[in-house]
Amino acid sequence: MSPLELALSCPKAELHLHIEGSLEPELAFALAARNGIDFPYASVEALRAAYDFADLQSFLDLYYACADVLRTEADFHDLMLAYLRRAREDQIIHAEVFFDPQTHTARGIPFETVLRGLRAGAEAARSEWGMSTQLIMSFLRHLSEEDAFATLEQAMPFIDQIDGFGLDSSERGHPPSKFERVFARCRELGKPVVAHAGEEGPPAYIYEALDLLKVGRIDHGVRASEDPALMQRLAREGMPLTVCPLSNVRLRVFADMRQHSLPALLAQGLVVTLNSDDPAYFGGYLGANIRAVHAAFGFDAPTWQTLIANSFRASFVSAAQRAAWIAQVDAHFASA
Ligand code: ADE
Ligand code: ZN
Repeated sequence: MSPLELALSCPKAELHLHIEGSLEPELAFALAARNGIDFPYASVEALRAAYDFADLQSFLDLYYACADVLRTEADFHDLMLAYLRRAREDQIIHAEVFFDPQTHTARGIPFETVLRGLRAGAEAARSEWGMSTQLIMSFLRHLSEEDAFATLEQAMPFIDQIDGFGLDSSERGHPPSKFERVFARCRELGKPVVAHAGEEGPPAYIYEALDLLKVGRIDHGVRASEDPALMQRLAREGMPLTVCPLSNVRLRVFADMRQHSLPALLAQGLVVTLNSDDPAYFGGYLGANIRAVHAAFGFDAPTWQTLIANSFRASFVSAAQRAAWIAQVDAHFASA
């Protein structure tokens, strides 16, 4: 098998996936019809044609608008199951999935409706295919810390069903420091915390995520390559970066894939994982990200083995489960 075939066929984990960003236009139209919503696009093709983004904010505007079709527990169930069904085609056996409760509670959808639907979808994939899923509740950083605290309060009756906390949405002008207190509270609950940092924002935001939010992973982090001291620190601390190559190109963080900082991050020995972020909007799921990276950089088999083993190494499952999955990756590459 070629290095690319080995990578595509290997069992893997996805650690950076926004469930709302897996809403395909076909499902959006179906849910709009089911819920009697007058969707402001003429057709699936017209909606897809709008997927031409200048930056993160122009994407987020459409992403939040499309989320309006998600209304009922069944909608959230169907969304989660559709993603996990598609993820399975890319040999994903474990997914740590972000959801943005404030996108829904602000529209009057109860927190419980969102969570129950997502959990039911994950449970269906577990019983059908043995897939493992964790849920990471993300705070929207363009909103206030007070709003984040209120959302955490809504989550408390269901805290056992939440596996971690994250920070996403518009990065520029909304530094991690804005959420220092709410993240302290999340850590007190004994949950892992992560944050988007260094996607569009400067390396300074990565330092803040590490020092003030005390995250266990950095989501994106691709602008770390601009700061050699930060790169050394991330390597020394073994701090994982959940990198999303197609997303970065579609949101114009890099002009094209060959300009991506991924090779520089790997050369520094960082614990990089590959992920799809919002695959319905960015031109593909994890397999498509792997193909695009391979087309640009032509990585050898050991590099792919490292990237895929990292997806388990950086996951929030037990150490024993991590070791068992990494052994599967090693066996897959050894069989070549
Ligand atoms: N929410 C969904 N996708 C995102 C991204 N790439 N960056 C920040 N917030 C997001
Ligand atoms: Zn993201």
